[in-house]
Amino acid sequence: MPQILSPATVGHLYDKTIPKLGIGLLYNPSLEFYLEAYPGYCDYVEIIPDMFWTDHGSNHPSRFEEIESWIKVLHKLAAQYPLTSHNISYSLGSAGIFDSAYLQKMQEWHQQFKFKWHSDHLSFVKVHNDQHQDHNAGLAVPVPYDYEVLDMIAGRINAIKRSIDTPFLVENNVYFIDLPDQELSETSFLNELSNETSCGLLLDIHNVYTNAVNHGFDPMDFIRQLELDKVIEIHIAGGNELGGMYTDSHAGPCPPAVWSLLEYTLPLVPNLCGITFEFHESYFHLMQFDGITHELNKARKAWNHYHT
Ligand SMILES: [Fe+2]
Repeated sequence: MPQILSPATVGHLYDKTIPKLGIGLLYNPSLEFYLEAYPGYCDYVEIIPDMFWTDHGSNHPSRFEEIESWIKVLHKLAAQYPLTSHNISYSLGSAGIFDSAYLQKMQEWHQQFKFKWHSDHLSFVKVHNDQHQDHNAGLAVPVPYDYEVLDMIAGRINAIKRSIDTPFLVENNVYFIDLPDQELSETSFLNELSNETSCGLLLDIHNVYTNAVNHGFDPMDFIRQLELDKVIEIHIAGGNELGGMYTDSHAGPCPPAVWSLLEYTLPLVPNLCGITFEFHESYFHLMQFDGITHELNKARKAWNHYHT
């Protein structure tokens, strides 16, 4: 059986103490029965809040319509597991707009669900046209690593931190084309962002691996260039190939390279508080309950070796 961690064991992020949670799962609908049937194989559940409501858009009088049946599931999860929130709609890198209604919604949800931390990606999904209609790209579009963008995103993270009293983490993104003439590397951008705002880093090892495969760099170099004391959470996942590119599709189990990178990283991240396994529900047929348990146990073995 998995080891239950002492709540006295904490990670640190500047003035914040953060509980070392252990091994987590990113929630998807195929996990409802797994989490009931196998309590204790994961220590926390990470949720994507946007899954639990319909967003009718900023011009709608009751914009966020919570989905009743899903909210019931969420309350059940909250009673059984500590929760963390992995957001997809802060849209940190949207030029010219920051969605304060979304921030307010998250503030209300944090009061209700007490997230141990929350996070979003170094990217954007929202764009507005001249008529201020909402448009959503539907996937995380990478930002240029320039100082102007850095200042804009830092301002938004500071606004999030002022509104929601739980640590905020930024996740390294996947990109399929190299933007030319950027002023910073992705690692320098993340380090500067963390230093300017005291945000933590969510190191998605599979995203690093995906970029390394597609752009031909050494993923260990990338990891070493980060200020690793800022890493609070790690994501692990699987992917697959599409049209000659390797994608971050969360297509079932982690490939061997991700496990090797996890082993490489774990001794270097003293403030790590959780390792989250992500898979997309459409790959449940590849995972089944035994496959999920296998990934969680493997992650726990690595975690226990370095972080208990
Ligand atoms: Fe991730």
